[in-house]
Amino acid sequence: MNPQIFKQVDDYISGLLATEDAVLKDTIALMCKEGLPQHSISASQGKFLQVLMTACNARRVLELGTLGGYSTIWLARAIPEKGKLITIEAEPHHANIAKQNIANAGLSNIVECRNGKAIDVLQELVESNAEPFDFIFIDADKPPYAEYFELALKLSRKGTIIVCDNVIREGKVLDKNINDEKVKGVQRLNELLGKCNDITATILQTVGAKEYDGMAIAVVTQ
Ligand code: SAH
Ligand code: DHB
Ligand code: MG
Repeated sequence: MNPQIFKQVDDYISGLLATEDAVLKDTIALMCKEGLPQHSISASQGKFLQVLMTACNARRVLELGTLGGYSTIWLARAIPEKGKLITIEAEPHHANIAKQNIANAGLSNIVECRNGKAIDVLQELVESNAEPFDFIFIDADKPPYAEYFELALKLSRKGTIIVCDNVIREGKVLDKNINDEKVKGVQRLNELLGKCNDITATILQTVGAKEYDGMAIAVVTQ
């Protein structure tokens, strides 16, 4: 099969169901201009997250890894009035660009950008007995993914949905002897998902506008 088919079909899906408006296009344009990495989710993946959020009635949302705010805008747009999204970004330049994009989207009232390391902010939230989140999107650095997931569970309640991006890494997760900390991090997470009794989870392979990868989806069951 022609590998271009995956991108063409993704464009077909986005064209029908996940069209980018000027705000999302401007977000990507500013990120390019400022030299940010091209690691944002795709439009159809943004819509996929919105569908999951709608299914679980998400109004309190937590995101790890803001980058330029592209995924943040998709998430925040699916939050009803009076909801809240906390997004964590370690890189000050990324956080700065994200804040501009979120303001341009008119979402600064519901989005709180925290500039810091995800592990520290998660621990702070746990220690301050933060109200549980309805939906958590893990998309920061890959090596501590399993630690992020454990902390995300502490910030969850029965029914919370936790999604983790980039857990297949072009199939590199199959290599048990790999020497790549990003791949080793997601391998540890995937094994944890298989052992954890408090969730029901699966992984969807993702192809399309972005490189071949996968998203883990877990629902907290107790
Ligand atoms: N969710 C974004 C993409 C995130 S890319 C989107 O789809 O639009 C991963 C981001 O995680 C990068 O911006 C990187 O700077 C950030 N990051 C890396 N290490 C981090 C850490 N320890 N804590 C929080 N963010 C981190
Ligand atoms: C990387 C990070 C991401 O969040 C992503 O979607 C793709 C790649 C990376 O750090 O390699
Ligand atoms: Mg990602």
